[in-house]
Amino acid sequence: MDDGFVQVARTTDVPPGKMLKVAAQGTEILLVNTEGEYLAVDNCCTHEDASLALGALHGGYIRCPLHGSRFDLRTGIPLEEPAEEPLRTFPVRVEGESVLVGPARRVTQEKINTGTWVTGKTTPV
Ligand code: FES
Repeated sequence: MDDGFVQVARTTDVPPGKMLKVAAQGTEILLVNTEGEYLAVDNCCTHEDASLALGALHGGYIRCPLHGSRFDLRTGIPLEEPAEEPLRTFPVRVEGESVLVGPARRVTQEKINTGTWVTGKTTPV
């Protein structure tokens, strides 16, 4: 069955505390390993055209290198201006030494308000 997941890296490509820009799902994706949990979001900031792979990684957050907005990597939600739109997140699955990324999803304002947003958390197999 095709569930839309594609391999983007090997686990050794992204050790804990590191990030990697990959191409998949028709876009550039920022793949992050934060304390053994893999998270994936759009690599391009939602404010302007900046590569988040050039930003600063702090745990589950990435700070944009251009104007400094900080995004929650689990939800894609910007926590500081000037960015206002959330990044898309991508579900991540680890199969053996392979890291796979699934189709994009974006948190809605309703889900933010109700706390029922879907995360991009790793689903080990
Ligand atoms: S381009 Fe990212 S905050 Fe402006």
